[in-house]
Amino acid sequence: MFRALSSFEKAYEVLFGRRSRVKAEQAANSVMKDFPSTRSRIWPVQVDIENDESIQCMFEEVQTKFGRLDAMVNNAGAQFDQHLLGWYLDDAPNMERLMDFNTVGTQIMTATFVPLLLKSNDPRILFMTSGNSTLKEAERS
Ligand SMILES: NC(=O)c1ccc[n+]([C@@H]2O[C@H](COP(=O)([O-])OP(=O)(O)OC[C@H]3O[C@@H](n4cnc5c(N)ncnc54)[C@H](OP(=O)(O)O)[C@@H]3O)[C@@H](O)[C@H]2O)c1
Repeated sequence: MFRALSSFEKAYEVLFGRRSRVKAEQAANSVMKDFPSTRSRIWPVQVDIENDESIQCMFEEVQTKFGRLDAMVNNAGAQFDQHLLGWYLDDAPNMERLMDFNTVGTQIMTATFVPLLLKSNDPRILFMTSGNSTLKEAERS
């Protein structure tokens, strides 16, 4: 995504979130090295979408630094491939784990940032998903 954005004349401020701020900084530095002539910048931020306080901290950081958000990419997701892991989506602990991370966290994150998205002239939200979101493959055969 940053490759595409960096090819535009316009400069973008791209926030890059990871659970560890140090790892976010390392990843941001590494990507920026690949695009030395870009006018766009990556800002590393710490966020854990399973932790409401962490989401709120990121919101306040973004609000203070940028005042608005033009696009939000909900990419955080866990691989819960029931066939590989040997468990199925028909018991409560597995379903709760799956919903907490891949659904509830993403919803809280999105809802928290809506006020900043509404300050953009052309706000966008993108959700990364997978074939498993249909639950089609989740049945025991
Ligand atoms: N890989 C595939 O074949 C595939 C196929 C279909 C869909 N997808 C979807 O594409 C997205 C990315 O997949 P991927 O394969 O790139 O996964 P990945 O390599 O495991 O990366 C997952 C990302 O989610 C972040 N993350 C995990 N837990 C988090 C949390 N609690 N709070 C905030 N961030 C968290 C991780 O950040 P840190 O660990 O750095 O904190 C990491 O950057 C996911 O939504 C996945 O469901 C992937």
